[in-house]
Amino acid sequence: MGVVTLTLNNQLISAREGQSLLEVIRENGVDLPTLCHLDGLSERGGCRLCVVEAEGTSRLLAACVTPVQEGMNIRTHTERLVRYRKMLVELLLAERTHVCSVCAVNGRCELQALAARLGIDHVRYEPLHPDLPVDASHGRFVLDHNRCILCGRCVRACDEVEGAHTLDFMGRGVQSRIIVDLDQPWGSSRSCTGCGKCVQVCPTGAIVARENIAGGVEKRPDFLLRILEGRQKRIWRW
Ligand code: FES
Repeated sequence: MGVVTLTLNNQLISAREGQSLLEVIRENGVDLPTLCHLDGLSERGGCRLCVVEAEGTSRLLAACVTPVQEGMNIRTHTERLVRYRKMLVELLLAERTHVCSVCAVNGRCELQALAARLGIDHVRYEPLHPDLPVDASHGRFVLDHNRCILCGRCVRACDEVEGAHTLDFMGRGVQSRIIVDLDQPWGSSRSCTGCGKCVQVCPTGAIVARENIAGGVEKRPDFLLRILEGRQKRIWRW
C-alpha cells in the first residue's frame, strides 16, 4: 500500500493510501467529533460533524467518507468549523425531543456529551418536537423515536454485524424514523435476534434496554408516560 503526504493543521504528515481523512486525523492525535461514525461499521456521512476544510475548495469535506489524497492541506478546527458543528448539534437538539433529565442514558449520551464539549448551554432554534411514537412492544428493548438522531448506527450494526436486517429507515425530513420489519411493532419481529447490538451502538437514549431504565420498565409502568410528559404520543402495545 502506497504512502501519501499531506498537511494537517500546518503539520506535514504521512498516511496510507485508501485511509479516510478521519482515520488519519485521529491517528495524528486530533480530536474530531463524530456521531454517525463507529469503528467497525461502514460510513454513512450523515451527521456532518466530522467536516474539515481543505485548501482549494470552499466545500466542507466529511472526513469519514473522504479518502486521503497526496498534497491535501486540511484544517480541522477553524472558527467556521467550530461554529458549524455547534449549529449542527443545536439543530439535532431542536429537531426531536431531548429532555436529558428524564432520559434513561442521562450522563452516558454522546449527543449530550458533545453539546457540553462544544459549550452549548442553550439552543437558538425553535424546537420542532414532532409527535413520534415510542415502541415499547419488545420484551427487552424500548425504541423512542423522539430521541433518535437518525445516525443509522443501529441499522448498520443490525445489518453488518448481526446480519439480521431488522432495522431500516422510513419517511422523510422530520418524520424520518427507524422502523422494524417494514414498520411492525418491534415485539412482533421475526427477524430480530434480540442481540442488543442496536442498544450498544445508539449514541442517545433512542434505543435502550429495559434493564437500563432505573427500576426497570416493568416495575415502573409510569416510565414512558412520565418521559412523554405533556405530549400526546402513540405507544405501541405496552
Ligand atoms: Fe462523518 Fe458523521 S462522522 S458525517
